[in-house]
Amino acid sequence: MAVTFDVQQAVATLRAGGLAAFPTETVYGLGADARRADAVARVFAVKGRPADHPLIVHLAEGSPLDAWASAVPSSARTLAEAFWPGPLTLILRRAPGVLDAVTGGQETVGLRVPAHPVARALLAEFGGGVAAPSANRFGRVSPTCAQHVVAELGDDVDCILDGGPCEVGVESTIVDCSRGAPALLRPGGITREMLEEVLGGPVPRQHAAAPRVPGQLPSHYAPRARVELVAAEDVPSRVRRLLADGVRIGVLAVERFELPPQVETFALPPELTQAARSLYALLREADGKGVEVLLAVLPAEVGVGLAIADRLRRASAPRAP
Ligand code: TXA
Ligand code: MG
Repeated sequence: MAVTFDVQQAVATLRAGGLAAFPTETVYGLGADARRADAVARVFAVKGRPADHPLIVHLAEGSPLDAWASAVPSSARTLAEAFWPGPLTLILRRAPGVLDAVTGGQETVGLRVPAHPVARALLAEFGGGVAAPSANRFGRVSPTCAQHVVAELGDDVDCILDGGPCEVGVESTIVDCSRGAPALLRPGGITREMLEEVLGGPVPRQHAAAPRVPGQLPSHYAPRARVELVAAEDVPSRVRRLLADGVRIGVLAVERFELPPQVETFALPPELTQAARSLYALLREADGKGVEVLLAVLPAEVGVGLAIADRLRRASAPRAP
């Protein structure tokens, strides 16, 4: 695996059917040519991801959508116009010929036009669609800088394109436009408030059923440390109890507490977009410090706070044995 700043090298990797990790404004992606079944199969193998979990196809700005989607409703056009390039994924009915491996065998496809300048250059130069999940092992924390990808995937990826730290820091907002009124499948950098303003009406959260979204499975986006959600006022008492049990504790919160020195603190910036940007690096840092139980206080669930709370809930969900 080579870490590079050279877009051409990543393009050559994709053209040869290889795997190129690349930066986006949300998190790093693990990219493969979306038209090559062999390359896409390797993405699933490297991630350890179940085959029925679909991948997002990343496109250059101005790419014709009809090569990928068979129907683009006006709501989807409105959202694309407002938020592409940017941290928004649209679920649309798929065009014939889109690989089953990409869609997880579903009749829909996820499309996104990222805003990161390095991703834009890569996609423009490559020309086609790049299928890419986040560049982490299945169920783990997404990488927000090239070093995280090295630590996650190492030599299992052919090339890692370094574009610096990700601005948004949590995955894209996913909106399902494939079945009537748009619904929010995964909160992200484009906030619910922004979607509703542009669409001129409420955008309901869509849970479970319908299209499968592995981000909606229990325990996802999880560090090794066990994540426990706590109300701010309960932090001191919970800390005392765990310390008495000899547990190595971390506290992740916007709030600041007076805590014994052996407690590791991971301070979320009070400004929510900055909190989102640092969230995954803080979770990795907790693992790096050998934290066994990470007490997390949810931020206000407005704006991108909704995405942060969503990821912390998933991180705290029960894990498969
Ligand atoms: O910000 C992001 O979206 C990042 C960057 C790399 O673009 N990508 C990302 O990919 O988070 P991944 O694979 O970790 O999460 C993609 C989510 C999954 O939950 C997947 O199920 C959902 O998108 N998805 C993709 N295609 C879908 C479809 N046709 N129907 C429903 N959900 C879909
Ligand atoms: Mg992911």
